[in-house]
Amino acid sequence: MTESKKILLIVSGGIAAFKALELIRLLRAKDYGVTCVLTRAGAQFVTPLSLQALSEQKVYSELFSLTDESEMGHIQLSRSADLLVVAPASADILAKMAAGLADDLASTLLLATDKPVLVAPAMNVRMWQHPATQANLATLTVRGVHVVGPDEGAMACHEFGPGRLSEPQAILAAIEALLTGGKKPLTGRHAIVTSGPTHEPIDPVRYIANRSSGKQGHAIAAALAALGARVTLVSGPVSQPEPPGVAIRRVETAREMLQACEAALPADVFVGAAAVADWRMAAEATEKIKKKPGAAPPALTLTLNPDILATIGQIKKNRPRLVIGFAAETDNLLANAAAKRTSKGCDWIVANDVSPATGIMGGDENAIHLVTATGTEDWPRLHKEEVARRLAARIVEEFQK
Ligand code: CTP
Repeated sequence: MTESKKILLIVSGGIAAFKALELIRLLRAKDYGVTCVLTRAGAQFVTPLSLQALSEQKVYSELFSLTDESEMGHIQLSRSADLLVVAPASADILAKMAAGLADDLASTLLLATDKPVLVAPAMNVRMWQHPATQANLATLTVRGVHVVGPDEGAMACHEFGPGRLSEPQAILAAIEALLTGGKKPLTGRHAIVTSGPTHEPIDPVRYIANRSSGKQGHAIAAALAALGARVTLVSGPVSQPEPPGVAIRRVETAREMLQACEAALPADVFVGAAAVADWRMAAEATEKIKKKPGAAPPALTLTLNPDILATIGQIKKNRPRLVIGFAAETDNLLANAAAKRTSKGCDWIVANDVSPATGIMGGDENAIHLVTATGTEDWPRLHKEEVARRLAARIVEEFQK
C-alpha cells in the first residue's frame, strides 16, 4: 500500500541531522520511497553518502547542477513526491520558507512545490523562542505547513527546553497521518488504558494508596486518541487533567478498575499503566476504627486483589489483540519483565527501573525497555509524553502488520 508513496526529505543544518538517518531507515522499512536533499549546512553534519546508502536514491544538493537538471528538473523534483519533509528544519530554513527565498536547492523546492509540507524544527532553545522564529512558524502554519515538535529536553548546547528534534518515530507517525489523507492510523480502533493508583478502603475514612501520579497512563491515553483511537481511560484517583477526546471512567479500587475494564471490552488494545494495589483489606470496616484506651493498634489483615492485566491478558472471550503491561522493578529489570510478560499472558511489557536514584516514579521522564516476544528494545531516557507517543507509534506499526 505504502509502496507508491514518495517522500522528499530535506535535511538542513543542525546537530540533530544524524536523526534523519534513522528516519530514512524507518521509512524504508515501510516501503516508502525516500529521496534526500541535503543543504550546505546539513552536509556539515551528515554525508550525502550515508543518506544515499540508506535511501538507495541519488542525493541532491546543488541547485545549478547540470546532471541533476538533465535527469530531473527542480520543479519536477519538488512535485514528484507525495510529501515534502524538512527534518531537521533549522531556524534558517524556516525563515527562508516564511520569506519565500529561493537561493539554494532546498528553499527553491519548497517554494516550487504544490505538495503538502511537514517541518520538524530543531534548534537551540533561545533560537526557537525568538519572536522571529515564532513569527515565521506562525506564517508557515497559516499557509498550511504541518509541524511536528520540537520536543523539550536537554540539548547538545547544554541548555534545556523546547528545541529538540522530535524522535524519528514521532516524525514517522506525523508523516503517516498526513499520507493517509487525514485519516488517522488508529481510526476505528478501541483502546482501554488504566492509569493512576487505586485506593483500597480500610474504613470509611482511611485507605491504602500509592504514589502513582497517572502521568504516564494519561499521556498514553492522549497519544492513542491523537492517532484516532477511541480511548476508554480507566483512572484511579489522580489530579491529572482529563486528556482531550478520551472517555474517562473514574474508579477507586482495583475491583472497580477491573469491572470498568471488562465493561469496556471489546477493545483492540489494552494498556495497563495503573499502579494497582496488590492487596486490599480482607474485611473493610463499615464504621471508623476507633482508638481504644490501652488496646493494641488494630492488625490490618490483607487479601490479594484481582490482577487486572493478567485477567485481560488471559481472558477467553474478547481478548484485545495487543495487551500491554508495565513492569516497575528495582532489580533484575529485564529478567523480571520477561517473566511478567509470560506469567500475565500479555504481549508486551514496558519495563522501567524505578530505583529511587532514577527519579522516575512521580517524575517527568522515563527510561523504557520494551519487552516483546521477539526481544527487547532499549529506549533512551525520554519525557513521559514522548514515551507515550513512541508507544502509540509502535502500536500503529503492530496494527499495520
Ligand atoms: N497490574 C494489574 N493488576 C494488579 C497488579 C498489577 O493490572 N493487581 C498490572 C499493572 O498495571 C502493570 C503490571 O500489572 O501493568 C505490573 O505491575 P507491577 O506492580 O510491576 O507488578 P506486580 O504484578 O504487582 O508484581 P511485583 O509487585 O511482585 O513486582
